Amino acid sequence: MRLTEAERAMLDGHYGPAKARAMDLLVRYGEALGAERLVKTKNVAGTVGSATPFMRAYAERGFDAVFSEFNLDSREVVETPPMEVGTCQLISGIDMRNWQHQGVSRELVETQERSERFFASRGVKMMATCTPYQVGNVPVRDEHCAWMESSAVVYCNAVLGARTNTEGRESTGAASLTGRIPYWGYHCPEMRRATDLVDVRVPVSNMLEWGLLGYHVGEVVQDEVPALAGVCGSAEPAWLKHFGAAASSSGGIEMYHIAGITPEAPDLETAFGGNKPRRVFDYNKNERRSAYENLNSSARDSAVNFVMLGCPHVSAEQLVQIAALLDGKRLNGNCALWVHAPRDIRDSAQSRAAADTIRRAGAIVMSDTCPAISRAMPPGTAVVATDSAKQAHYLPALTGVQTWFGSLDDCVEAATSGRWSGELR
Ligand code: F3S
Repeated sequence: MRLTEAERAMLDGHYGPAKARAMDLLVRYGEALGAERLVKTKNVAGTVGSATPFMRAYAERGFDAVFSEFNLDSREVVETPPMEVGTCQLISGIDMRNWQHQGVSRELVETQERSERFFASRGVKMMATCTPYQVGNVPVRDEHCAWMESSAVVYCNAVLGARTNTEGRESTGAASLTGRIPYWGYHCPEMRRATDLVDVRVPVSNMLEWGLLGYHVGEVVQDEVPALAGVCGSAEPAWLKHFGAAASSSGGIEMYHIAGITPEAPDLETAFGGNKPRRVFDYNKNERRSAYENLNSSARDSAVNFVMLGCPHVSAEQLVQIAALLDGKRLNGNCALWVHAPRDIRDSAQSRAAADTIRRAGAIVMSDTCPAISRAMPPGTAVVATDSAKQAHYLPALTGVQTWFGSLDDCVEAATSGRWSGELR
C-alpha cells in the first residue's frame, strides 16, 4: 500500500494514538483487499452506538473503550478525538422514544443516551436512520464515501452516483478519524461498469413492482453489476429505495445501472463501458410471480398480528401516504402497526400532522431502528405483514415469524381487518 506523507505521519503517531490506530487498521484492511492506495473521503456513514446488552456491559469501561475496541480494532484504550470528516450515525437497535414497546430496559436506553451524547460531542451527527440521504446527507456525483448498510450503499452508488463500498463499523470508524478509505471496488470507475443485462418485459410503476423486480434481480445477478433495459418512465425515489434494498437482500448488489436514472448511465452502452453483457436475464410474468411467491414462502396463517412499514425508513411523502390510508380508521384489536421513519422526518413540521393521524388509528411511528436490526416486535407476534421485500426476506430467517409481503394497501387492510387478503394482481 502506497501512503502519502500525511498518511505516513498519521500511521507513525504524529497526529495522536487514535489516528495511528485508525491508519493501521486501514492499511491492514486495504492490503487484505489488494488496494494499492487510500482515497480521501469527507463523508462517512457508520455506527458508534452501544444499543445492545453486550455493548452496554462494555460501555461500563467508558465510550473511549467502546470506540477503541469496536471502531478501531484496538485493545488498548485510546482517547476518541473529534471526527476528522463529516460522519453520521446510521440505524441502531433502540427507538429512543418508543423503547417500552420494544421491551428494552431503561438501563440500556440510558447507556444509549450517554453514548449519543458522547459521540455527538465528538462530531457525529445522530441521524439514526438507514436512509441518511433522506435527511441531509446527500453526496454529490463521484464523491468518495465510506458508508455502511446495504440499502444505503446501493442508493449512494446507483441513484446519487457517489462512490462507496459496503463498509463495516471498523473501517467507517477509521475513516472518520483519518478522512481516508481504501481505493478499490466501487471507488474505481472500471469496477462500476455493468456486467449483466436484465431485460424487463413487464410494467414496473409502483412500490410493489419495484420490490419484486429488485428481489428477482438480486437473486439472479448476486454480487455483479446489473443494467436494466425496458424500464420505461420515471421512477420515484421511494421506488428506487425499495428496489435497491430488495436487490441487496436476495443478492449482494451494491451498484446497478438504469439508463436515465443512474447518473453515469445516460444509455446502456455507456453503462457497459463498451463491453458486451456477460449474461442476459429476462424479467417477465413468470419471474415476477416467482419473486412474489418466494417472498411469501414463509406465510401460511391469514391472521396477522403485526404490520411493519418503513423498510428502508419512510420519506415524508410516504408518511403522508400512510396517514391518508389510515385516516378515520382504527387498527384491529389483535394487530399492531409500526411505521419506521428517520427521527428528523418524524419530528418535521411537514410530517407532524401525518404522524398524528397514524397514531390516532392506534399505530406507532417508530424511529432509530427496525425489527430486522432490533429483533424486537410486539409481544406474541407470530405472523407479520410488510410492504418491504427486505424485511420479508430477513424476518422469517432472523426471528422465525411467518411474513406476508404485499402492497401498502394490502398491509393497511391487514392492519385494520387483522387478516391477510393480499394477492398478486
Ligand atoms: Fe433499514 Fe432495517 Fe430495512 S436497517 S433498510 S429498515 S432492514
